[in-house]
Amino acid sequence: MGHTFTAEKPEHADAIEHVLGRAFGPGRYAKTSERVRERGAVFEPALSRVALNEAGDVVGVCRIWRVQAGAPAYFLGPLAVDPGAQSAGLGLALVQACVAACRAVGASAIILVGAQKFFAPAGFMLVPHGRVSLPGPTDPTRLLWQALRPGGLDKIEGELSAPL
Ligand SMILES: CC(C)(COP(=O)(O)OP(=O)(O)OC[C@H]1O[C@@H](n2cnc3c(N)ncnc32)[C@H](O)[C@@H]1OP(=O)(O)O)[C@@H](O)C(=O)NCCC(=O)NCCS
Repeated sequence: MGHTFTAEKPEHADAIEHVLGRAFGPGRYAKTSERVRERGAVFEPALSRVALNEAGDVVGVCRIWRVQAGAPAYFLGPLAVDPGAQSAGLGLALVQACVAACRAVGASAIILVGAQKFFAPAGFMLVPHGRVSLPGPTDPTRLLWQALRPGGLDKIEGELSAPL
């Protein structure tokens, strides 16, 4: 089935909440990534992407936030695909679309918390231990980043916070 990818718009908000609820279940707001978003990360709808099915329904979402971590960077998440549409490549395609959008605006780095096995094909690697921290417990084997231009990670360090 054909899907389209588009920047997130206000009219997608309710459908996105539905997909997030179905994909994550009730534990969603306990995640440390939510603390980053609560502490002033700036949502970037133009760099975030939703996947629409042929009927125009939202079946996936990947959100991007502007943060500071020693230097300006972007934080990716949540990523979710409706359980009924999973395992068809949409999750990876959404991540790749967000990476391309961030690169197109000249961003230097993207940071996220997620499974290395899943995100490696989209270019993400493990953050060296202790280099970056989040405001809450974080599994160091799930803290990932990628440079969007040469040297893009050089100044990225410390705790993720609101952009300056
Ligand atoms: C993770 C998620 C977005 C992937 O969406 P998707 O459209 O199924 O992704 P793709 O089709 O591109 O890739 C699927 C493959 O990713 C891999 N994968 C998925 N979740 C994974 C995980 N948590 N750890 C490691 N690999 C994973 C599997 O190999 C899977 O292949 P399979 O379906 O044949 O087992 C989706 O499973 C989801 O919404 N999960 C619940 C929310 C969540 O965990 N979000 C990610 C937070 S980091």
